[in-house]
Amino acid sequence: MELILGLQTRHSVRGFKPTPVSQETVRNVLQIAGGSPSYTNSQPWEVAVVMGPKRDALSKILYDLAAGGTPSRADEPAPKSWPEVIGHRSRQHGARRFEALGVGRDDVKRREELRLLNFKFFDAPCALFFFMDASLGPWSTLDMGIFIHGVTLAAHGLGLGTCLQASLGNYPDAVRGFLDIPADKKLVVGMSLGYPDPEALLNTYRSTRAEVDAFTRWY
Ligand SMILES: Cc1cc2nc3c(=O)[nH]c(=O)nc-3n(C[C@H](O)[C@H](O)[C@H](O)COP(=O)(O)O)c2cc1C
Repeated sequence: MELILGLQTRHSVRGFKPTPVSQETVRNVLQIAGGSPSYTNSQPWEVAVVMGPKRDALSKILYDLAAGGTPSRADEPAPKSWPEVIGHRSRQHGARRFEALGVGRDDVKRREELRLLNFKFFDAPCALFFFMDASLGPWSTLDMGIFIHGVTLAAHGLGLGTCLQASLGNYPDAVRGFLDIPADKKLVVGMSLGYPDPEALLNTYRSTRAEVDAFTRWY
């Protein structure tokens, strides 16, 4: 797929076909994304690929924690407040998405059901968890973001879909415990990966973007 077309057509996928993704395909995605730039070429990313029965078991652990109302204990807590313009975009995103899906403002039950789909990996057959050493700082977090975007684009280029999910980082101790990952590895974010289901209702929504002049100063 042509690079610019790939950047323009990638979007989050929240409904997947049951078709499994082969280990070879995931390896290919990670190898392509591994070509990402990083600070002093330090390549801080560490990835856990979870498929098959392990995927099902981990999904159940995370789903039960979330459905039981366990508060997030994310290694990187969600921001408590945003600057006005950014907070507005974030609220708009939620409101537009629910509206597009026909979910009312007061439909607490349906909203909760949709939130919990995160922990079923939106039915994707593969879940990825991105870690970095906890001693590393913001430069490495930046590297992680670049790498992870590379994963989304490489997957897209190979006909796969992805959804990046901060929600999959809500219970890092459970993920580390289940995957036998040392406590000094910080869980940055998770991702669902699989073949997109074009029929899924959740895949009908498309996010919007600010115009270039809304975030650019010209000199
Ligand atoms: C760091 C990060 C965390 C995210 N967490 C979630 C999440 O927990 N659940 C979800 O459905 N989408 C999540 N998203 C997806 C964003 O909502 C999505 O990227 C944004 O609305 C733009 O839409 P697009 O990806 O379709 O272009 C996350 C994206 C990023 C970059």
